[in-house]
Order: sequence, then C-alpha cells, then structure tokens
Amino acid sequence: MRMNSEEKTRLEKYLEQKRVEVEAAVDRLVPPADTYPQVLFEAARYSLFAGGKRLRPILCIAAAESLGGSSGQVMPCACALEMIHTYSLIHDDLPAMDDDDYRRGKPTNHKIFGEGMAVLAGDVLLTDAFRLLSDRGLFPDAAAGDLLRVVHEISRAAGFFGMVAGQAVDLDSEGKDVTFETLMYIHDHKTAALITVSLRSGAILAGASEARLSDLTKYGRNIGLAFQITDDILNVEGDPALMGKGTGSDGVRRKATWPSVAGLEKAREKVGELVEAALARIASFDDRAEPLRLIARYVGERKT
Ligand code: IPE
Ligand code: IPE
Ligand code: MG
Ligand code: MG
Repeated sequence: MRMNSEEKTRLEKYLEQKRVEVEAAVDRLVPPADTYPQVLFEAARYSLFAGGKRLRPILCIAAAESLGGSSGQVMPCACALEMIHTYSLIHDDLPAMDDDDYRRGKPTNHKIFGEGMAVLAGDVLLTDAFRLLSDRGLFPDAAAGDLLRVVHEISRAAGFFGMVAGQAVDLDSEGKDVTFETLMYIHDHKTAALITVSLRSGAILAGASEARLSDLTKYGRNIGLAFQITDDILNVEGDPALMGKGTGSDGVRRKATWPSVAGLEKAREKVGELVEAALARIASFDDRAEPLRLIARYVGERKT
C-alpha cells in the first residue's frame, strides 16, 4: 500500500533531520578544502557535498536506533559508508565506465576536475573511509572486536566479494544479452551489498543479537535490490530534474537492467514484492524500527 501524506511527512522529517546530521559529521571528519594539496580535497569535497540522499548512512543510523543504539555511536561509520558510496559514483561516472555528465544535480567530478583527479578523488574517499573506521578514538563505546568485524564486513561488501565485483560484471555485460542470474548477481553486488552492510554495521555497533542481524541482512538485501531496480526504472521513465542525473543512458549503453531483461511492468511488480518481503523481515521489531519501515516503502515509491 502506498504511503499516505501523514506517513510521507514523517518519513521526510526523519530523512531531513538525519541528512543534516550526517552532512555536518562528514564536514567535520573530512579535512577542509584549503588543505594542501587543495585540488584533491576540493575534488573529494565537491562530490561529497554535491547533494545526495544519504541513504546508506541513514540506514546505518536507523538500524542502530531500531535496536536502542544512538546516531552518535555510529556516526563516523555512517560517514565512512557515504564516502565509499560517493567514491563509487565518481568512478562509475568516468568516461571509461558509464560516461555520465551529471550527478547529484551538478556536472560529474571528471567534468570539473579532469579524469585523473576524479580517479584520485575516488581513491582518497575509499581509503580515508577506512582511516575513520579504524580510528578507535572515534568509537569510544565500541568493543574492539565489533569494530574489527565492521571493518571486515565493509571491506568485503565493497571489494572482490561486493560492489566492485558487481561493477565489473555490469561493465563486462554491456551490449550483451544477459541471463537473469547475471542480472541478479550485478544488482546484489553493485548495490545491495553496500546497503546491507550499512544496516549490519550500524546494528553491530549497537550490540545486535545474531538473530536481529540476520533479519536486518534480509531486509537490506530486499530493499537493496528494490533500490537498484527502481534506479533502472527511473533511468527509463524518471525526471532528470528531480533525480539530478541523466536518463536514457542504460538503453544507449545496452546495460543489463530489469526493464531490459524482464520489462517495465515486471520490474515494477518485483519492486513491490521486494518491499513487502523487506517489511516482513522486520515485522517483529518494535516501534523503534518505524523509520526502517518507512524507508522500505519509500524505496518502492521514490522518484529521486
Ligand atoms: C545511486 O545511488 C547509485 C545506485 C546504487 C543506484 P543513490 O541513488 O543513493 O545516489 P545519491 O547518493 O542519492 O546521489
Ligand atoms: C551504480 O549503478 C552502482 C554503483 C555506483 C556501485 P548505476 O550505474 O546503475 O547507477 P547510476 O544510475 O549511474 O546512479
Ligand atoms: Mg554503472
Ligand atoms: Mg552509472
């Protein structure tokens, strides 16, 4: 069922409040733009502060809060996740990959800073995310073992077994007819992996039981897939002005997407099923999981 206006208002208020908190924390944790070498800090900050929904850090916080944790307890981790995500977007937009000109309502990083500096801006965001994650002083409440587990899980979700592997298959599949299995591999790895680990890391730092972690993992995979299928649908029928990025490019590059493999109607149906499955996974959580419930429904309805 679609969100009513009261639910939409509650969701928007929550997202806005957390977005402001996350952006203030990223601004504190990433060195200022006048740090030498300025061009590197400017390029990294350009994409970090170009806008963006901040979904991954917000999921990290919402997962912690759903279990009685606080946003402060997980904030540096939330920021690291946004840095990794932003790096992936900078590299994804490069001419050697999707060759896109607009992102987050602005020219893409390489359009402003050149390809070489865009590669480095991505590199520095990925690397520095792990500087934050491994800084014990930033996580005074965390057990060292939990923090190490978070570092390991995020590396896993970003590297050979996660996002980069998904991007590799995405790139390698351009212009080819792919099987459904390959399409699922791409979506699971390039998008659902980081979304799932965002929830898991927030939950681990909040002291989650293995049972709760398992529920959040399944919730994450479902909303992660729904999120990417919606991204594919919006590439066909979305409004570039609302999304802050171009449309139509997947068709031109013959990308492996849900609309191209299964058709738009099936893609929309699948999103609905995934959102319901996500909600079922957290049905036994108490009222503190309300933001996670609203976010799952938002993922199915989003236009941006
Ligand atoms: C875009 O992610 C890339 C995908 C995985 C679909 P978002 O839609 O979360 O992008 P921002 O962070 O809001 O710009
Ligand atoms: C982006 O996938 C996924 C990552 C950056 C890891 P897409 O290439 O489909 O996303 P957009 O449409 O450019 O945001
Ligand atoms: Mg791509
Ligand atoms: Mg792209």
